[in-house]
Amino acid sequence: MSYVEKFEQIIKEQLERVERLNNEEPATDFANKDKIIIGVIDGDGIGPIITQACTKILEKLLAEEIASGKIELRQIEGLTIENRVAKMQAVPDDVLAAIKECDLLLKGPTMTPGKGDDLPNIESANVTLRRQLDLFANVRPVVVPEKNLDWMFFRENTEGEYALGSRGIDITPEIAIDFKVITDAGTKRLARMAFEHAKKNGNKNVTIVTKANIMKKTDGKFLQICYDMAKEYPDIKVNDRYVDICSANLINDQVNSDFNVFILPNLYGDIITDEAAQMQGGVGTAGSANIGNRYAMFEAIHGSAERMVKEGRGAFANPASICRAAVMMLRHAGIMDKAQKLEDVLNDAQDAINIVRDGSGHTANDFTEYVMGRL
Ligand code: IPM
Ligand code: MG
Repeated sequence: MSYVEKFEQIIKEQLERVERLNNEEPATDFANKDKIIIGVIDGDGIGPIITQACTKILEKLLAEEIASGKIELRQIEGLTIENRVAKMQAVPDDVLAAIKECDLLLKGPTMTPGKGDDLPNIESANVTLRRQLDLFANVRPVVVPEKNLDWMFFRENTEGEYALGSRGIDITPEIAIDFKVITDAGTKRLARMAFEHAKKNGNKNVTIVTKANIMKKTDGKFLQICYDMAKEYPDIKVNDRYVDICSANLINDQVNSDFNVFILPNLYGDIITDEAAQMQGGVGTAGSANIGNRYAMFEAIHGSAERMVKEGRGAFANPASICRAAVMMLRHAGIMDKAQKLEDVLNDAQDAINIVRDGSGHTANDFTEYVMGRL
């Protein structure tokens, strides 16, 4: 295919995608569902260690719901780097089919091959799942009570730089072009979720993060759509920041406690949420929810840290992040009391259990024992 034909193909697919977005099904109301199937995906590297720790905790916390059949925790096999490389698929077909039988997913980090890994260049499983299950909102809370920081990030999760991340085109051996896609429908559904959250939580202020001075078309559209929607929420204070100064503001103690809710396109959201998580104590402490209308997936914000396992430090992987994600999952499922119970214990665990990556502190197992003991 010539690069012009490749480009045409991409445009055609995006037009079809927008058509689908405009005919979307409404969101599932989990609180009124008789049975919720939670698929558990271990992932790679430290994934199995932290995910199994969290599963043990959930089995205890949800013993009643599991016994009554309201909740099923179902192990999903095969989303490993070995199997994905063997099948040469980011998410092998049979694994995707098993995933689609579930409602919610608790997912450990999966490895994404990059340059220098000596692995075929298959796409990130996360990105593929987010796209396949149409998980359009990546919701990431960061809370630092000592600094009075209470942030909630709404990162667009299927568009922007990620929509065609592995579909860039080599025009000639000397010119490479990647794409960024922003749509009205894709931005509106994210912005709606963020504004509704801000409203429900006492009209918190909302900050829109872009680089619309440079990415004029895509970020320009994103910014405009968010501001248009803001008119429907007159009690919410809305402003915007360019992503560069936003990253500086987050570590500026003079202003960072003024922020509440953020709305960001995909890549800026990726970067800014790692920065924010670091302020809370590291990416190992933050949970992440990927929300769509039909499915939702909850995961640790961090990667699979293969190196920790290779160097024999796997036992010191911190399950806190995936457990925080599980709290978000329980809230999404409408199981509010258990979500609160787990969150309270996790807050205590943060002080009581000190897991450090160099292996000098507590282990994942100590963490699990502590949490289970307090439930
Ligand atoms: C995240 C991760 C992913 C992303 C990677 C693993 C593809 O960094 O969830 O933030 O870039 O979105
Ligand atoms: Mg990231």
